[in-house]
Amino acid sequence: MKDFKGKVALITGAAYGFGKEFVKQAAQRQMKIAAVDIIGDELEKVIPLAQELGAEEIITIQADVGIYEETEKVVAAVMEKFGAIDLLMNNAGVAVPGNGINLPLRDWEWIVQTNFMSHIYFMRQVIPIMIKQDRHCNIMNTCSIAGIINFTGMAPYFSTKHAAVALSECVNYELQALGADIAMGVFCPGYVQTHLDHSEEYRPERFKDESDPYYQSEEFAKGQASAKYVIETGLPLEGFGETVFKAIEEDQFYVLTHPQYDGFLQLQTGEKLKRSNPNLAQLIEAIKGGK
Ligand SMILES: NC(=O)c1ccc[n+]([C@@H]2O[C@H](COP(=O)([O-])OP(=O)(O)OC[C@H]3O[C@@H](n4cnc5c(N)ncnc54)[C@H](O)[C@@H]3O)[C@@H](O)[C@H]2O)c1
Repeated sequence: MKDFKGKVALITGAAYGFGKEFVKQAAQRQMKIAAVDIIGDELEKVIPLAQELGAEEIITIQADVGIYEETEKVVAAVMEKFGAIDLLMNNAGVAVPGNGINLPLRDWEWIVQTNFMSHIYFMRQVIPIMIKQDRHCNIMNTCSIAGIINFTGMAPYFSTKHAAVALSECVNYELQALGADIAMGVFCPGYVQTHLDHSEEYRPERFKDESDPYYQSEEFAKGQASAKYVIETGLPLEGFGETVFKAIEEDQFYVLTHPQYDGFLQLQTGEKLKRSNPNLAQLIEAIKGGK
C-alpha cells in the first residue's frame, strides 16, 4: 500500500503494545481507523492520541476477537461507519504460559480462540469485502518468531503462532491463485517490551475458574514469572510500528525484526524446503537482508 491517506485500517488489540503503535502510525498517515480491543477504558485513550497525530477519523469498538459474533459486529460497525476496509491488522493476542501437557483445556481454548481463530474470523469476513472493493488492500497478521521456530516451555503460545503463520501463508497462496489485489504479511517479532505479560488481565469471564488448583500451582506461578521476565527484558517498543508500516508500504510478506534468531531460522529453512515452498524462499531472502 503506497497511499494510506483516507484509507480504512481495522486494528485489533489496539489498547496496548504493538496495536497502539499501529494506531499511531495509521494516524500519522491520515487514515480512517477502527481500533478494537477487549479492554474498553484503555482503548478510549487512543482516540485523542490518534486525533492529535492526524487521523482522518477514528472509532473504537470494544470486542472479544475470540468470539465470532463479536467480530461480525466489529466488521458491520466499520462498514457502516466507513464503507470500506483497506488494511486489516489481526494483532490482538495473549501469552498463556504453560506446557502442552498440563495446561487446562480452558486455557488452550482461550489462547487458540484469541491468537488463531480470531485471524480466521476476520479474514473470512474482510477478504470478500476487499475483493469487492477492487483496489489494492493489505492484511498484516501479528504472529511471532514463535510461529517459525520452537523452544520448549511455551507449547500453547508457540502452537497458536505456528498455526497463525501457516494460515497466513496458505491464504496468501489462495489470494495469489485468485489474482486478488491483496498483499498479505506476517509480523514475526521476538520479545518486545509491551503489556503482553499482563495477559491475565484480558482473560474473558468464560475462561475463568478460580476453583481450579492449577491457578494456585507452582507451575502456573513459574509460567507467569517467566512471561514477565522475557517481556521486561525484550527490545524497547519504540520503532516497531514504523517498521511494520514500512513493510506494509512495500507489500512485504515476512516481517522479521530480531536478528538473534537468524541461526535458528537458517537451520529450519534448508534447500529442500525452499524448493517446496516459495514463501520460504522469500523468508530466506529476508533473513539474508537482515529484515
Ligand atoms: N511483545 C512481544 O514480545 C511479542 C512477540 C511476538 C509476538 N507478539 C504478539 O503481538 C501481538 C500484540 O501483543 P503485544 O505484545 O502488543 O501485547 P499487549 O498485551 O501489549 O497487547 C495485546 C492487546 O490485545 C488485546 N486483547 C487481548 N485479548 C483480546 C481479545 N480476546 N479480544 C480483543 N482484544 C484482546 C489486549 O487488551 C491488548 O490491548 C500479540 O498477538 C502477541 O502475541 C508479541
